[in-house]
Amino acid sequence: MLDRLDQQPPDALLALIKLHDADPRGDKIDLGVGVYRTGQGATPVFGAIKAAEQKLVDEQDTKAYLGPEGDMGFVHALMPYVFGSDPTRGGRIEGMQTPGGTGAVRLALALVKRAGVTRVLMGTPSWPNHAQIVRDLELELVTFAHATDEGAANLDALKDALADARDGDVVLLHGCCHNPTGIDYTPAQWDEIAALLAENPVLPVIDLAYQGLGQGMDEDAYGARAVVDAVPEALIAYSCDKNFGLYRDRVGAFYTLAKDAGDIDRILSNGHALARAAWSMPPDHGAAAVRLILSDPKLTTNWLDELEQMRTRIRQVRARLAEAGRIGSIDLAPLGKQNGMFATLPLGKAQIEALRDEHGIYMAGSGRINVAGLTTDNIGKFTAALAAVAAETV
Ligand code: LMR
Repeated sequence: MLDRLDQQPPDALLALIKLHDADPRGDKIDLGVGVYRTGQGATPVFGAIKAAEQKLVDEQDTKAYLGPEGDMGFVHALMPYVFGSDPTRGGRIEGMQTPGGTGAVRLALALVKRAGVTRVLMGTPSWPNHAQIVRDLELELVTFAHATDEGAANLDALKDALADARDGDVVLLHGCCHNPTGIDYTPAQWDEIAALLAENPVLPVIDLAYQGLGQGMDEDAYGARAVVDAVPEALIAYSCDKNFGLYRDRVGAFYTLAKDAGDIDRILSNGHALARAAWSMPPDHGAAAVRLILSDPKLTTNWLDELEQMRTRIRQVRARLAEAGRIGSIDLAPLGKQNGMFATLPLGKAQIEALRDEHGIYMAGSGRINVAGLTTDNIGKFTAALAAVAAETV
């Protein structure tokens, strides 16, 4: 029977990790998968996480099962950071823990499928796993352009998509630090989007995977909060994998905004049932560490300081790239105005391959770079290599 399974290609983004690791060149540059790197190229465990993990080792007295909702102390401790003051909006928001942001997106889309949704509207390009999850759930993907040719967020395309939407569609939006373009809606645009969604039957699903890596914790949540304030119902998929540096520990949360506080239990009972059937309950360790950080003011300050250092370094690399300006047909100036770890460069397949084969520079096949992979030591090599391939055919 298993002969009937077709060979699947490895996930292109995750395959890059192995390709890069296998490259013996000492001056190779990894701009592939979205992990933060320091100026020395390392992805260290946060000091606040180390301290919380030590506390767990010392104080955790059982690893007995929780439930499919995971660690609700973690879920609740995070809410003021995600939703701001009045984090439950009068009891209309509640959540559950998920395995990473991917688990939260998966849960959100599986849940709306249960509610009869068949179509997902989504700006493209997007994180490739979004489309993969939509396809795997056998939902229909309806795409619109996320950005204009000039590198701004394309609000008109979203408006057109919403105007054409049907009752019972969902729209999947990136809360901040758009992956893969770094091009976010401005606060004024989010206000417009929130007002449009308030009058539209489409259900917003907001993927907030990089809070704190763009402009700041509150600034990066502006869109999600504006939407939550305006609409009757919304779903939020949250990841702590980047802003707590917990990547492989898979720490995420799923939140639902319901029309009435009385609807929450019913909605989340579906989330619990879906989780039970998929992963039973989420991995505990990373979420428990986050809970300990957020319940200790000193650790919270340490975490926020570490996050600010990451954000500052990302902004510095972006500023350096923006200063380089135009390299052949590639304009790096817009990178200074974008947010988060990612930017998409207008590079063709041959150029991306040449960067990898001739210069040891690894990036996604879409032309997406993780700017955190650049350091004072390698940024010159990167711009020189860009100049070399910019002169070659696309
Ligand atoms: C990325 O886009 O590089 C990250 O979100 C990692 C992942 O899971 O794809």
